[in-house]
Amino acid sequence: MSSRMENKSYSVQMNGTGVHSKPAVNTKGLNGTGVNGKGVHSNGFHHVSVNGSLYPAKVKSRRLRWDVKPSEMANNTLNPIRAIVDGMKLTPNVDKPMIALSIGDPTVFGNLPTDEAVLQALKGAIDSQKYNGYAPSVGYLKSRQAVSNFYSCPEAPLDAEDVILTSGCSQAIELAISVLCNPGDNILVPCPGFSLYKTLAVSLGIKVKLYNLLPEKSWEIDLQHMESLIDERTSCLIVTNPSNPCGSVFNREHLQKILKVASRHCVPILADEIYSDMVFPGCHCPSIASLSSDVPILSCGGLAKRWLVPGWRMGWILIHDRNEVFGSEIRQGLVKLSQRILGACTIVQGALESILNNTPQSFYNKTISFLKSNSEICFSELSTVPGLNPVMPSGAMYLMVGLDMDHFPDFKNDVDFTERLVTEQSVFCLPASAFEYPNFFRIVVTVPEEMMVEACGRIREFCQRHYRPRSCDSNDLDQ
Ligand SMILES: Cc1ncc(COP(=O)(O)O)c(C=O)c1O
Repeated sequence: MSSRMENKSYSVQMNGTGVHSKPAVNTKGLNGTGVNGKGVHSNGFHHVSVNGSLYPAKVKSRRLRWDVKPSEMANNTLNPIRAIVDGMKLTPNVDKPMIALSIGDPTVFGNLPTDEAVLQALKGAIDSQKYNGYAPSVGYLKSRQAVSNFYSCPEAPLDAEDVILTSGCSQAIELAISVLCNPGDNILVPCPGFSLYKTLAVSLGIKVKLYNLLPEKSWEIDLQHMESLIDERTSCLIVTNPSNPCGSVFNREHLQKILKVASRHCVPILADEIYSDMVFPGCHCPSIASLSSDVPILSCGGLAKRWLVPGWRMGWILIHDRNEVFGSEIRQGLVKLSQRILGACTIVQGALESILNNTPQSFYNKTISFLKSNSEICFSELSTVPGLNPVMPSGAMYLMVGLDMDHFPDFKNDVDFTERLVTEQSVFCLPASAFEYPNFFRIVVTVPEEMMVEACGRIREFCQRHYRPRSCDSNDLDQ
């Protein structure tokens, strides 16, 4: 027996407050604190005999009945879209077939299939039998190399080690927020914006500060407002470009201004670029990282939208860190977080190089010209509808429509308006309250053209039925 054992030594467990202490080497423990009669050190630590058996300090009374509750994290996880949509009474008009302009999944109507080369790549990966096992937590090197080659440019060079493959862009965003923020920190999020940022942040105990986008300036950021929100606990700035739900695309000058704010306050950027390169002809959209030499940026992307395969769950983080601000610590943090649950599906990883290298430009062009044409139809139709103010998008797959609620006294708000649109016209658009932006609704422009035309006609009929001139307008007419 060692002298330590003879000494009746005890090790010390973590206490309830999560504070560790060095093991006490004798019954007196550290600082001369002794063990009280209940097996608890007078400093509050439980003690465990080194022979391995654990004696709870106080024998707790056993539970007399079941009492299993969801965790705080589960209770704090809220998807605002679900919260709003699930609360709506969506009963379509039986005389009109339903048209859902609400679903951000470009595959639902079957009119936008992915390219044959993408399918062949996946079939090849399956047939090779090489991708049935586990991949490294950050993804196969070959697949990461393929992504870095695809996105690397002289202004923002990338190597394979700058890429982490994830389960969709959603996991990329989750890892990026988790590595940059502690509970009690805050992040800046666009308003209106994609709801996942808040869902993830709040469940992690991170505060969300919403910065305004300006519809009258094609949804550019109100930079003054954004800057005013930054404080010492702001741990990242989220920039979504092109935007869901706005379909807006920031130009080079605007991106440079955003970078200046981030640089001035030393706040890293999480760039959600899942819609990168989905911009209408004539509009140029550089990645934000290609315009910065100093701001560290985690750019999140994936296959979901541009390659029209959201169900394949392939995403990535591109680490842009030319000045070594993130350094090895953030990189290591991302690796550690990726080890919690393996991310991207290995079959899709196996297909990735071929997908990125063999998808023809004509496929991307076809998708973009369809989205542009449908956006134009929708915009020009709704521009002449009384009480509606559509904002023409420049990319992505969405169009936001402003509502002059004063002219629609039949409805309390955008939720009420869109609910009744379903009841009367069987057209479902997402109320922008789901994006924390009341008095707007969002239209997804991936639906087949004839459906878009039909839906716009029904929206017109609905608005004409419910539109009322403002009382002051009618007074003007009376005078
Ligand atoms: C702005 C934005 N970011 C991220 C995502 C999530 O992408 P994924 O399906 O790859 O997780 C979406 C999906 O709609 C999105 O609109």
